[in-house]
Amino acid sequence: MTDGSSSSGQAESIRAAVRAKYRVAADAPAGHFPYPVGRAGALGLGYDPAWLGAISEAVVERFVGVGNPFALTRPRPGAAVLDVGCGGGLDTFVAALLVGPGGRSVGIDLTPEMLTPARAASAGWRVGGVEFREAAAEELPFADGAFDLAISNGVLNLVFDKERAYSELFRVLKPGGTLAVADLLVVEEIPAAVLADVDAWST
Ligand SMILES: C[S@@+](CC[C@H](N)C(=O)[O-])C[C@H]1O[C@@H](n2cnc3c(N)ncnc32)[C@H](O)[C@@H]1O
Repeated sequence: MTDGSSSSGQAESIRAAVRAKYRVAADAPAGHFPYPVGRAGALGLGYDPAWLGAISEAVVERFVGVGNPFALTRPRPGAAVLDVGCGGGLDTFVAALLVGPGGRSVGIDLTPEMLTPARAASAGWRVGGVEFREAAAEELPFADGAFDLAISNGVLNLVFDKERAYSELFRVLKPGGTLAVADLLVVEEIPAAVLADVDAWST
């Protein structure tokens, strides 16, 4: 994050730092986050215990979200949902439960290791279409208007080019579609030294 580096260089440095952090956290998230994670985190944020009971424990224990997008909106049965930065996939599976057998729930994440347990759990999933892909929020591999609802939980704060990520989110939503984001918000100015610290961008 030197002054002379290009913004694409900065974006790549941040992506590398994010991948390095989440590669380590993918095995066992407990101890890597300053807030409750896993089942306790989800219950504390108001996730329905019945949802957690229907989803693989390996997925539930990897939940590291900072909020509950389903407190903002719920997808209707049959809808197509995109979970951007799905991590271990809890929100992707909750969306799959809510949209049911006629719906589709897709999780994307930058860190392949975060997707491994989610993909394993999807092999035994019988409720409806759920899939996981490695991709970046800034370059979503989907057609315009592919989704009714896009959700994201604790991810966009980690993205260097937020304008591009939001523009991608709006591009892949159908006209009149819904975006539900849970994230960390900055409430005071960030010191220049922190802004220049690549590790701070991935924390
Ligand atoms: C705090 S975790 C949240 C994971 C998940 N949403 C949850 O609630 O458990 C942040 C996730 O965002 C992913 N991520 C960070 N930057 C990303 C980007 N530019 N594109 C896609 N995923 C990204 C990380 O790999 C990590 O899995």
